[in-house]
Amino acid sequence: MQRVLGFESSCDETGVALVEVDGDAPPRLVAQALHSQIAMHQAYGGVVPELASRDHVRRVLPLAREVLSQAGLALPDVDLIAYTQGPGLAGALLVGAGVAVSLAAALDLPALPIHHLEGHLLSPFLSADPPEFPFVALLVSGGHTQLMRVDGVGSYEILGETIDDAAGEAFDKSAKLLGLPYPGGPHLARMAEFGNPQAYELPRPLLHSGRPDFSFAGLKTAVLTQVRKIGDSPCEQTKADLAASTQAAIVEVLVKKSLLALKATGLKRLVVAGGVGANARLREQLDAACARRGVRVHYPELALCTDNGAMIAMAAALRLQRGLARPRRDGGFEVRPRWDLASV
Ligand code: KG4
Ligand code: ZN
Repeated sequence: MQRVLGFESSCDETGVALVEVDGDAPPRLVAQALHSQIAMHQAYGGVVPELASRDHVRRVLPLAREVLSQAGLALPDVDLIAYTQGPGLAGALLVGAGVAVSLAAALDLPALPIHHLEGHLLSPFLSADPPEFPFVALLVSGGHTQLMRVDGVGSYEILGETIDDAAGEAFDKSAKLLGLPYPGGPHLARMAEFGNPQAYELPRPLLHSGRPDFSFAGLKTAVLTQVRKIGDSPCEQTKADLAASTQAAIVEVLVKKSLLALKATGLKRLVVAGGVGANARLREQLDAACARRGVRVHYPELALCTDNGAMIAMAAALRLQRGLARPRRDGGFEVRPRWDLASV
């Protein structure tokens, strides 16, 4: 049996987790701890990279101690250290990578760099009902919106992606225009619950392109136009209607393009991952559309949709199990703030 200690620090969450791998059995999450910086960045309306790095410095070791204590283990019980190498904020990545590689060097352990999006993609393997390969993956986070064909661990083919803003960015920027706090996605979703999704006619960019590609920049501009029209002090119902219409536009595009990718690949399994995967309306619409087509949809557990250490430790464990891990032992490392998943 091998134990993987994983570190995530690519943006505004510090996450640490311990996963056990035993032969061919599905790897098991033993313990995890997470600190979200949302409250700290909220005052600035978005992530302040320098503050993010400094906070990761403060949190990472106490979180690692917490994970080991939850597991009833100590550092010598760990066999492999994994960390997010990218993509993400350079300074934030350097903190997690630096701590992980230093720990590995001090303990004479191998250190394995992991792609953040691979973590998201494989996070449904932390659920009680993990998917089987191959599947289509809809990766919808704050920085990425991609449809991929996944044939196995490490086998990722990009079918389509956004040409400008990510879906999470569209949620966040629209929410900001509506005066909601950072990160806007969940706030906008909550407000949308009381709104009429047909109240405003908003653009669905590239909806009929016939390709699994996305564009959300135009939507944000359309929301801005509506915000200007409704004036400085709109009533709550007007705001809720605009929030619901915005969410409906984003969700319709995500559902339609996912169906397109499923049709093009002929696959009958869809995995949804990344922060926007927590959106209830997206889940509801995807479930309904996929049920009609005999497609199974897998989601990570709600708490594991946004960034966390468990998905990094799990991705490392799945790689280790399949002989796909190429860890380093020389104490050297580099981070990759921009990094294409298809090149992993
Ligand atoms: O995957 P994630 O935690 O971080 C990145 O790797 O980017 O995703 C964060 C994104 C943010 O844009 C956030 O607003 C969005 O996920 N998000 C949501 C919801 N929960 C998180 N968007 C819509 N509805 C939600 N319930
Ligand atoms: Zn993420």
